[in-house]
Amino acid sequence: MPKKLSTIFVCNNCGYESSKWLGKCPACSQWNTFFEEKQVNVNTAKIRQNIKNEVVQLNNVVKKETTRIKTGVEELDRVLGGGFVNGSLTLLGGEPGIGKSTLILQICNSIKIEGKIFYVSGEESAEQIKLRADRLEINNEKILFLSETNIDIVQNSIEKYNPQFLIIDSIQTMYSEEITSAPGSVSQVREITARIMQICKQNGITTIIIGHVTKDGSIAGPRVLEHMVDTVLYLEGERYFTYRILRGVKNRFGSTNEIGMFEMEGKGLVEIKNPSKILISERNGNPSGSIITVSLEGTRPLLVELQALTTLSIFGMPRRNSIGIDYNRLTLLMAVLEKKANLQMGNQDVYLNVVGGIKVNEPALDLAIILAVASSYKNTSIKEDVVAIGEVGLTGEVRSINLIDKRIKEAERLRI
Ligand code: TYD
Ligand code: MG
Repeated sequence: MPKKLSTIFVCNNCGYESSKWLGKCPACSQWNTFFEEKQVNVNTAKIRQNIKNEVVQLNNVVKKETTRIKTGVEELDRVLGGGFVNGSLTLLGGEPGIGKSTLILQICNSIKIEGKIFYVSGEESAEQIKLRADRLEINNEKILFLSETNIDIVQNSIEKYNPQFLIIDSIQTMYSEEITSAPGSVSQVREITARIMQICKQNGITTIIIGHVTKDGSIAGPRVLEHMVDTVLYLEGERYFTYRILRGVKNRFGSTNEIGMFEMEGKGLVEIKNPSKILISERNGNPSGSIITVSLEGTRPLLVELQALTTLSIFGMPRRNSIGIDYNRLTLLMAVLEKKANLQMGNQDVYLNVVGGIKVNEPALDLAIILAVASSYKNTSIKEDVVAIGEVGLTGEVRSINLIDKRIKEAERLRI
């Protein structure tokens, strides 16, 4: 009897599978992200038969020397732990328009390799990329460009030109004819990634896959392929601010607690070597509601300015609004302030903002949040040279935090 071809519904955001359509994904809580897919039965037993790996004593395994390729962009090299590992597969995710293609094109110019660089774009034509390259003053004879979306053609070209460095921009535009669903769907994205991984690992090509992240989940997010690649980087930032943060989320060859900071300018992304100085540079005097704190991004201390505003609420329900800081944290701290410091927050709207459009999420910022709100409420400024760091517990106590020396040093360095 022929096997019935079954269909399943897959969440485009996280890859959760269900036998029926669902409005909201139970795994990632996104709405309207389920699309129908044909189920492909892969005979894993057969694959396993072909693998002939033997049991070895771990102590006796000879390590292969990992060589790294320096990108020439210091901020990126630090996030990667010293550059791309030769032959590794990296995923660079971020919202559309955040600057992923720009960053990668800049790397193409500064990267220190002997072989060819192969840039495959399914989004832009050669002329468009050339225009951008001219704007970024990129002049590297080693860059080869292909505007193509069919993975078979891409694979043939890669095998023909045998590059050392490969860029796929973006994974959601590529498609394989073997799969019926549209480009950008979970099964296409998975299949293409598996194909690229095979090409990359077989030929020892260092590869970067660019992947878009969308909030509505209309295209498969990079989350569904995070487990397949060696390194995952995300480029973040608010669209209307020029700062961009590059974060390592997964790294098989190093730590994930480093960040890189960039600023989007007319000539592409410029590295910010001293982010603390820039983030607090626009502080004007010391108005009420403003305070400086030190957040730790990875191992890097970052001075940020918090601003709070409290106003009398005109509705029965007071509003709480936070940008750059977890909303739940703010409401929790407001409750502590009300009960433990006897400030009447129940009839106050509270707004909180992290200057510069960056996101900081650390309990070490609690004390600064509380002080900023209290300062605005009492309309009293906090002295300009005060830096507040500390976690605040539910009973109102201030707790110690990690790496305090490092934070103090950074504050001293900028003479706050
Ligand atoms: P892009 O790299 O195309 O984003 P992504 O690949 O993540 O979708 O960046 C696009 C934005 O960056 C675009 O809105 C214009 C801006 N930009 C600059 O401000 N300066 C520049 O030099 C370049 C190349 C782009
Ligand atoms: Mg792009």
